[in-house]
Amino acid sequence: MPIPNCKKTYCILILLFFGYAVLNAQTYGKNGMVVSSDLGSSEVGIAILKKGGNAIDAAIGTAFSLAVTHPSAGNIGGGGFIVFMNSEGNTTTIDFREKAPLAATNDMYLDPAGNLIDGSNHTSAMSIGVPGTVAGLYLAHQKYGKLPWAAIVQPAIDQAKNGFAFNWSLYRAAAYFSKEGNTNAFMDGYFRNDKGVLLQPEENWKQAELAKTLTLIRDKGRDGFYKGKTAKKIAAFMKKNNGIITKKDLAKYEAIERKPIKGSYKGYDIYSMPPPSSGGVALVEMMNLMELADFKTLEFNSAGHLHLVAEAMRRAFADRAEHLGDPDFNLNMPLDKLTSKSFAKKRFQEIDMARASVSDSAQFGRLYDSESTTHLSTIDKDGNAVSLTYTLEYSYGSQMGSNELGFIFNNEMGDFNPQPGITKSNGQIGSAPNLVAPEKRMLSSMTPTIVGKNGKPYLVIGSPGGRTIINTVFQTVLNVLEFNMPIDKAIEALKIHHQWLPDQIIYEKYLLSPDTRKALEAKGHILKERYNMGALMGITYDAEKGIFVGASDSAQPDSGAVGY
Ligand code: DON
Repeated sequence: MPIPNCKKTYCILILLFFGYAVLNAQTYGKNGMVVSSDLGSSEVGIAILKKGGNAIDAAIGTAFSLAVTHPSAGNIGGGGFIVFMNSEGNTTTIDFREKAPLAATNDMYLDPAGNLIDGSNHTSAMSIGVPGTVAGLYLAHQKYGKLPWAAIVQPAIDQAKNGFAFNWSLYRAAAYFSKEGNTNAFMDGYFRNDKGVLLQPEENWKQAELAKTLTLIRDKGRDGFYKGKTAKKIAAFMKKNNGIITKKDLAKYEAIERKPIKGSYKGYDIYSMPPPSSGGVALVEMMNLMELADFKTLEFNSAGHLHLVAEAMRRAFADRAEHLGDPDFNLNMPLDKLTSKSFAKKRFQEIDMARASVSDSAQFGRLYDSESTTHLSTIDKDGNAVSLTYTLEYSYGSQMGSNELGFIFNNEMGDFNPQPGITKSNGQIGSAPNLVAPEKRMLSSMTPTIVGKNGKPYLVIGSPGGRTIINTVFQTVLNVLEFNMPIDKAIEALKIHHQWLPDQIIYEKYLLSPDTRKALEAKGHILKERYNMGALMGITYDAEKGIFVGASDSAQPDSGAVGY
C-alpha cells in the first residue's frame, strides 16, 4: 500500500473522526448534556451550562449557534417548538410556529380556475411564513432563562463573525448549489468567501451580515428582529421579491406558551407538543394503542410488531388530517378524546392482526416533506430539560434570503392545506382545520417530547423528517419504554412510517428481512423502501444515579452529544 500523502492522511483523519463519532454512540455526563445536529453548537450549549446557565439557556444558545453552523434547518428565519420540564417535573411548551401573513388567503396558491398551481406553496416569497424563532427563544428566556440574554446570544455572534470550520455537510450543499445550471444566485453566493470563491471543507466560514443581525437581536431582544432595522430590511426584501410579509406582520408576531399534550405509558408520563403541532396528539394516540398490545407475543421487528405499529400510524394520521390545525382558529378540536385511553380501546378493537386495514382514498393525502428540520435536547445539573425542534420546512427553506441580513427564510406556508375541500388519494389534503387564513399557524408534525418518570425527566427526544417525525419519535419512545433499548440503540434502530395515505409502509433500507416483507405483504401491506428517516437527538436520565446519557443519530455526521 502506498504511503498516504498529507492530503490523504487528512481525509483519513476526518473519516476516523466521523467513525469515532458514530462508534462513540453514547456520551455520558452528570452535570449536563447537550445533543444537537452540530457538535460545535452542542459545545456552545455546554459552555453556557458551565457558566451557570440552565437547560433553557443552553437550548437557546445552541439554537442560535445552529442558525450559524447548520443553516439548512437551524434558523432565525423559521419557527418551531419547545417542550420544557423543570426540575420539579412541571412541564410547559413554547409555540413559535410561523404564521400566515395578514394578506394571506385560502386561495392564494390557486389559478383563476381554482386549480392548485403546482409547487407554488413551497416556492417563491409567497411560501414564506412570518418567522417565529427569535420571538420563541426570547419568550423562553424571559420566562425560564437564568443567564443574561446577551451572554446566550454572543457565542453565535462569535461563530458568525470569527468563522468556524466549514464541514462536509455544508460542503455537500455548497457543491449542489454551485452546480452548473443552478439558477438560484442567492444560494450559489451563500457558500462563497468574500472573494467569491466556493468554500472548501475545513476552511474558515465567516458570515458577517448574519453576525450583524444577531448583534441587533443580542442588544434589543426580540425587537432587534421584529422592529427597527431588521424588520425594515425584511419588509423591503419581501416587497422586492413579490412577497406579502410586511412590517405590521412582524410587529404583530407573538410566541405563545401552551399547555403540553400529556399521555402515559405503563407508569411513564409523556409530554409533547400540542397543536399547532400534530405530533403530541398522534404520539399519545399511538402509545395508548401500544399499551393495549401484548408484546410478549410481538417480538421486536417481527411482522406482527411492525403490522401493529403501522396500523396505529394509519389511524393517528387519519385523525391528524381530519381534526388538527391551529388551536386559535379551531376551537373545538377533540384533543381529549383523541388522547384518551377509552378511544384507544375502541381503536384497538378495530385492528385486525391478520390483515392491513384499507385507507379511504377518498380522503387523506400525501407527503409534502423534505429532509430538513433539526432537533436539540438539553438537560442541566438540576434536572431541567428542554426538547426543541425548529425548522425552515425544506432544506434551506425557501432558499431565499437577503444578502444584507445573512439568513434564510422558511417556506413553511407549504404546510397549510393548499386547496380548500380537495383531498386526493395521492394528492394534497384539503380539510378545513388547516386551510390558509391570515395570522393562522400552519399544522406541523414536529414532536419535541419529554418522557417523565416519578416527576423527573427520563427521556428527552425529537427529530426532523416532515411527517415521518411523529413516527420516528413514536418508535424511539417505544424502543426505550417497551423494549428497554439504551438511547443510542433506540435512535439507530431502523424504522417504518405509515401516514394513512398513500396507503403504504415506508421502511428504512436493511430493516426488513425477505421473510418479514413477505409476511407483511401477505397481510395486505404495500411496502416501499427508503434509505433514511429522521435524525434523532436524545438524552436519557437515570435520576437515581444522577447520570445523563446522550446520543445523536449517525444520519447526521456532524451532529454530537456533549456531556460533562
Ligand atoms: O413542521 C413540519 O411538520 C414540517 N415543516 C417539518 C419539515 C421537516 O421536518 C423537513 N425535514 N426533515
